[in-house]
Amino acid sequence: MEKLRIEGGRTLAGEVAIGGAKNAALPALAATLLTDGEVTLTNVPAVRDVDTTCRLLEQLGVEVSRPAPGVVVTRGQGPTGSEAAYDLVKTMRASFLVLGPLLARTGRARVSLPGGCAIGARPVDRHLAAMEALGAKLELHDGYVEATCDRLCGAEIAFDVPTVGGTENCMMAATLARGSTTLRNSAREPEIVDLAELLITLGAKIEGAGTDTITIEGVDELGGGSHAIIPDRIEAGTYLVAGALLGDDLTLTHCVTEHLQTVVDRVAATGVQIDASADRLTIRRAELHPVDVRTQPYPGFPTDMQAQFMLLMTQAAGSAVIRETVFENRFMHVPELHRMGADITIDGRNAVVRGPTALSSAHVMATDLRASASLVLAGLIAEGETVIDRLYHLDRGYENLEAKLAAVGAHVERFRE
Ligand code: UD1
Repeated sequence: MEKLRIEGGRTLAGEVAIGGAKNAALPALAATLLTDGEVTLTNVPAVRDVDTTCRLLEQLGVEVSRPAPGVVVTRGQGPTGSEAAYDLVKTMRASFLVLGPLLARTGRARVSLPGGCAIGARPVDRHLAAMEALGAKLELHDGYVEATCDRLCGAEIAFDVPTVGGTENCMMAATLARGSTTLRNSAREPEIVDLAELLITLGAKIEGAGTDTITIEGVDELGGGSHAIIPDRIEAGTYLVAGALLGDDLTLTHCVTEHLQTVVDRVAATGVQIDASADRLTIRRAELHPVDVRTQPYPGFPTDMQAQFMLLMTQAAGSAVIRETVFENRFMHVPELHRMGADITIDGRNAVVRGPTALSSAHVMATDLRASASLVLAGLIAEGETVIDRLYHLDRGYENLEAKLAAVGAHVERFRE
């Protein structure tokens, strides 16, 4: 089992290059099922979820090659498979994103239901309702959705709450449907815009991505093309918090500041000095004031930054309230942070953080991807040596984490036990 050992208290200085966005790369890879044309994706992050998705594509009959770091080239041959098995879907919910493309392309799909996960029930009911609205027939057998259709037909679909994956699944399916589809109350995340741009490059007709109403005019087929994945705003936000805690001019490069504006604003409100340009952020730590946050769909404060911001607030002088509105059970990092001495009380969807607390090192357990990131940040500031177990959670979404941190002065190493 691989673990991470961190010796806390080192100042962070220098440059960290932000990689491609995992949450944009995964739907982009799923979208390659929509075409037999050659698709070249660049700025693809080297994270485990990307490896898993490439394996899934191969099982579905797509030829996948990775000729250089950050580059994935796919070529379809009329998808030959139609099944995403439980073993895969349970490790990575985003594999459910193959449902829309498979249905649109082949008229059939058998995809495992993801089931609950550590951060809550996370149902896929809105994905399913949208596929039915597009004309798919769905049956649930043995924990799988078995979906069939003739050609999908464009429809009016209104999401009752915005769902990122639901919007993506539906947008992909609608590209090859007969007629026009309108998605209302769509998610507006930058990853949706990135997916729309890829699909448009491949020949899809999509308008409105990034707003709450997206229209897709179905076409008969998509071709090939090249697309660069956007930078990862959550990776950037995580290093931004690292800089707020320990930065002595820590500079993030290759980011899109606009995509993490809410996070930059909240971190700056704590008193941290941030010099921002369109694609670079330089951060210098300061005395921290408490700042409340409430997670919301984009452009609100991202739920994927909640655990990291909570950790930051353990170092602010006073009380901050962190409210999680997107997922119902996303405070699993709190018991681990308690073990390092943090003073945090949970009351329903609110966590009250009282600081500043000098954290002490401990042996802690990663529970999900972003919770693990908050433990790494805690280890960076804690006195002594922190060991983080279950590293595979971090490897799902953070590229070269220990190398990037070590390059700016942290003492971090991976070891096996
Ligand atoms: C995506 C991101 C994840 C992020 C989340 C919210 C990827 C691969 N993952 O997840 O990192 O935390 O957006 O920004 O991009 N819901 C339903 N029914 C559905 C679909 C969603 O009830 O059919 C609920 C979810 O349980 C959740 C909320 O809607 O409470 C938002 O979920 P959604 O936006 O769909 O998140 P994901 O796409 O799973």
